[in-house]
Amino acid sequence: MTTGSPQHDTPHHAQTVPVPAEFARHAHIGSRAAYDDLCAQAQADYPGYWAGLAREMVSWKQPFNQVLDESNAPFYRWFADGTLNVSYNCLDRHVEAGLGDKTAIIFEADDGTVTRHSYKQLLEKVSQLANALKAQGVQKGDRVVIYLPMSVEGVIAMQACARIGATHSVVFGGFSAQSLRDRVEDAGAVLIITADEQQRGGKSLPLKAIVDEALSLGGCDSVRRVIVYRRTGGKVAFDAGRDVWLHEVMAAESTTCEPEWVEAEHPLFLLYTSGSTGKPKGVQHCTGGYLLQAALTTKWTFDLKPDDIFWCTADIGWVTGHTYVAYGPLANGGTQIVFEGVPTFPDAARFWRMIEAHKVTIFYTAPTAIRALIKAAEITAEVHPRNFNLGSLRLLGTVGEPINPAAWDWYHREIGGGRCPIVDTFWQTETGGHMITPLPGAHALTPGSCTLPFPGIDAAVVDETGKEVPWGQGGVLVVRKPWPAMIRTIWGDPERFKKSYYPADLGGTFYLAGDGAIRDVETGYFTITGRIDDVLNVSGHRMGTMEIESALVSHPLVAEAAVVGRPDDLTGEAICAFVVLKRARPSGEEARKLAAELRNHVAQEIGPIAKPKDIRFGDNLPKTRSGKIMRRLLRVIAKGDAVTQDTSTLENPAILEQLAQAN
Ligand code: WT7
Repeated sequence: MTTGSPQHDTPHHAQTVPVPAEFARHAHIGSRAAYDDLCAQAQADYPGYWAGLAREMVSWKQPFNQVLDESNAPFYRWFADGTLNVSYNCLDRHVEAGLGDKTAIIFEADDGTVTRHSYKQLLEKVSQLANALKAQGVQKGDRVVIYLPMSVEGVIAMQACARIGATHSVVFGGFSAQSLRDRVEDAGAVLIITADEQQRGGKSLPLKAIVDEALSLGGCDSVRRVIVYRRTGGKVAFDAGRDVWLHEVMAAESTTCEPEWVEAEHPLFLLYTSGSTGKPKGVQHCTGGYLLQAALTTKWTFDLKPDDIFWCTADIGWVTGHTYVAYGPLANGGTQIVFEGVPTFPDAARFWRMIEAHKVTIFYTAPTAIRALIKAAEITAEVHPRNFNLGSLRLLGTVGEPINPAAWDWYHREIGGGRCPIVDTFWQTETGGHMITPLPGAHALTPGSCTLPFPGIDAAVVDETGKEVPWGQGGVLVVRKPWPAMIRTIWGDPERFKKSYYPADLGGTFYLAGDGAIRDVETGYFTITGRIDDVLNVSGHRMGTMEIESALVSHPLVAEAAVVGRPDDLTGEAICAFVVLKRARPSGEEARKLAAELRNHVAQEIGPIAKPKDIRFGDNLPKTRSGKIMRRLLRVIAKGDAVTQDTSTLENPAILEQLAQAN
């Protein structure tokens, strides 16, 4: 294991931003002492701490008596003898409490059309779809793949699965037919919910056609039905024996549906994500522990109150769109924005215009979006946030990648008007919810640092043997105790789960996050220094280098490929591919054409987000005498730096010069 190095600026930023007194006064967790007290409670009685919160935050059908079961570690179980339903917790209980008419979702479509959806309306639609799924034969434990755009229907589909105990697997609408097929097959899905098309940035893009293609690739015999949401009215092929319209199957059903009460450990969803090796893994999340942390982190990290207008810009295809769109805000009875479009359409002021129009109070987005909008505002004065009234905002958040202090400062000043705290939330698909994050009423902020663990999360920075390193020294990030929302297993591959996250060299009981980290010498604040494995983070999206390499090598002309990341001002990291062809190394126009072809090929195999930014052709790749590709050197070349490292173990040192020149 090697520790990563910071990608941007410096991890130690002198400036600290104190907690605004006014914010702290009204906050759920309103002081450092309150935070410390929660941590002390967790320290003194770990299961007791979580059990108390689980009783407070979650409505149980059958209350639990067991809290944490470690008998089959690392396959931990939480609240295992309790039963509950997530959709009941997100909808029914608010309606029962008299909040039926409260707006749950303010939906803004790509073209600017706004619709409002109350808790009662949402509950009725979720019940109708839940009934429709049952009518189509979907049973508790069956997997349903959701391949939908950002939409109220997407949230309804997830909630409807939860209502009947079906396990959903949302696939981001940007993934290709091949990727969709792989996920459908791995999950053994019985049904797919999709849309005719998606509408983004003024353009219609196919979804149903991609489902058709995915299913025609074979291996998806488990799929009996495809439910199609009519979004654009675009023409789609219809298989009369397999496909049905969402509005038709819903209209046929009652607006009430008794929730299926499931055990706390029942799998709520699978979400595929990239690892350092092999194919994407289906991260399996449970019901009870996941819901607890989705609800609790939404409440504490975002300081969510009944009158807030919360906006998380993440797509439901990613974990952020699960925990902080589909579940967390609804579990708290909050009001949130769901946005179909993109930040740059009709212009790069879309976010700022929407914050003003909807009086958004809490705004949560990715550093990559902030950096892109900074650039846009520098070029075009009309899209600068200063043209908009952002005075409704009281809290900002970021997620997905490190935020460089320059972007942090701009976000704080231009969007937050200098008054809004910024919660830089570190977490992962596997963790289910925030792990290391400021609580905005409790922590002074240091730009670029995610500050301290969420109360109850036992995060630490350790060396290769699992020993904690002193503050100020880099190491690997681990979590030493199991937590309620943690990944339960990799779907169908428990061995891979154990090997990936509980490696023996760390003692087998520490969860290995896969990131490097360093703690500030004085404050103990954590700064994440980047992945320590072969996982790239491009615009906050996780990409496995091996996956991209396999996609490249599946092209008939490619003999060998190595993919590395290089720092990029806008996307955090950019994908850089070194390719050896089965024929002579191309140059000039031929190289440009081939690079374009290979990029499209990767988009076909995985999706446009995986397209390499740079492709360089070489006669060979730098290898050790035993044939191992020296990625370390490729990273240096990709960055445009001179190779100063020792290259004496290289079989073919001359190749370095060739690759450095190829572009
Ligand atoms: C990886 C997880 C968590 C939801 C979105 C991404 C990186 C995430 C931060 C942050 C620095 C971060 C890590 C992590 N990451 N948040 N605040 N600061 N890095 O989920 O796709 O599972 O990716 O994203 O490298 O391991 P994901």
